[in-house]
Amino acid sequence: MDSGGYDKRTFFDKEKNVGGTHGLYMIFFLLEHVTTVVPALCFIPAAGLTYALSGGIAMFLAMLVAVPVVAVTVFAVTMVALSHAEFPDAPCDWTKYIDITDAKLAAKYKGRKIPIETFVDAYMSQRAEFVADPLEVFWHRHEVFLFCITLGHAKFFLTKFTGQLIHHTQAADTAEVRDVYDRGNDFYRWFLGPRMIYTSGIFESQEESLEDAQDRKMDLVCRKTHMKPGDEHLDIGCGWGTLLAFAAKNYGTKSTGVTLAREQCKWGMAQAKDWGVEDRVQMLCMDYRDIPKKQYNVITSLEMIEHVGIKNVQSFLLQCKDMLVDDGLFYLQLAGLRRAWQFEDLIWGLFMGSFIFPGADASCPLAFITSQAERAGFEVHSMENCGVHYALTINHWYNNWLSNKDEVVAKYGQWWYRCWVVFLAWSVIVASQGSSTVFLLVLHKNTSRFERRDTFVGPYPIATQQ
Ligand SMILES: C[S@@+](CC[C@H](N)C(=O)[O-])C[C@H]1O[C@@H](n2cnc3c(N)ncnc32)[C@H](O)[C@@H]1O
Repeated sequence: MDSGGYDKRTFFDKEKNVGGTHGLYMIFFLLEHVTTVVPALCFIPAAGLTYALSGGIAMFLAMLVAVPVVAVTVFAVTMVALSHAEFPDAPCDWTKYIDITDAKLAAKYKGRKIPIETFVDAYMSQRAEFVADPLEVFWHRHEVFLFCITLGHAKFFLTKFTGQLIHHTQAADTAEVRDVYDRGNDFYRWFLGPRMIYTSGIFESQEESLEDAQDRKMDLVCRKTHMKPGDEHLDIGCGWGTLLAFAAKNYGTKSTGVTLAREQCKWGMAQAKDWGVEDRVQMLCMDYRDIPKKQYNVITSLEMIEHVGIKNVQSFLLQCKDMLVDDGLFYLQLAGLRRAWQFEDLIWGLFMGSFIFPGADASCPLAFITSQAERAGFEVHSMENCGVHYALTINHWYNNWLSNKDEVVAKYGQWWYRCWVVFLAWSVIVASQGSSTVFLLVLHKNTSRFERRDTFVGPYPIATQQ
């Protein structure tokens, strides 16, 4: 299935030492408390400096603005310096992998490695090309690219990313999410294939088809949550609604989906009709914060919490708990990050935040999400890490996308085609090497109001199916 390069791939030999969080947890803490701790962290030094300099109210207000600006700038500059120390300039002959058609850029990087952000920017604007299969080039990326922070990254971080992390208002999330998912169902169909499922499948062999893996995954979610006929099922961030139709058809549920994207609702209801389950499937086109109050036997949410943002993770989980019956099960799937991150992980994350999922910042290490779930009053029943299955899934998406190149370019243009080539090829690598992964969690309320033995002792071995 891999389009070249896999067998001869090269590895990065400068893995970070473990034993710390490399600042990630401090950032999460600040984001979570952005309306309380962050103002306090600005107020205290601003007041102290104003007092020390015998200034007045004008100086205090100026300090209040200057303190966060200086802090964010110092942080950005430090990260740039650290990344350049990890990826110093190095000689290389990149001509067997890439071509740089922009003469000025080609001259600048002649005979030496090029920062990946610089190359990607040039490739997307047709000033550079891959001369081998892009995925093969990505398997050999350390021979060609530097994973250091560039001025382009610093600009994005200071002008857009920081704002995206902080706001997460309903209006801002609606605008960002619709911009992504209402682009056109054909755009997504050209890589997701006929199932229109934008999450990982579960493979039993590396040769299996994407559709078989996605069907197995849908079935796994239904079994993990003990779905049965008549169950009220809520899927938050339901995408094109395939899980709703699958559960209604195969497990007899009454399934309700919630998504912000209008195009997804149209597509999903048409699919439910095709499958003969439109009377047991409904799709609500709304923000999760507006879901009408009601209790469900099963709640599922597959790779939507990332869009909720670190800032709102706890309130989202509390809302889910309120909507779940006491003995109900909550299947939560989310993209994970490794705690001892590497610079490539960060650079990939900045690419994803710029072009693929703007504002979707709540990918996190496992401990963050389990501690948030426990805080919200859930008990974690099971957890599986399916990153390698995601790598295989994305590899199928990549092959689909390349096979539909002419249609994509004719309708959406070169820029979008190339953007998704980079996203899919690079994400195969990132998921293969554990930079990013996917966690499948089953949660239930940690109360004594239901009997766990009746729920978790059954015919399957622990813990996949129960
Ligand atoms: C990556 S897709 C996952 C889709 C689907 N669960 C699947 O597995 O194919 C994320 C979904 O979350 C939805 N979403 C993101 N933010 C949302 C919000 N604030 N309220 C409701 N839905 C949201 C998007 O519309 C999209 O359907």
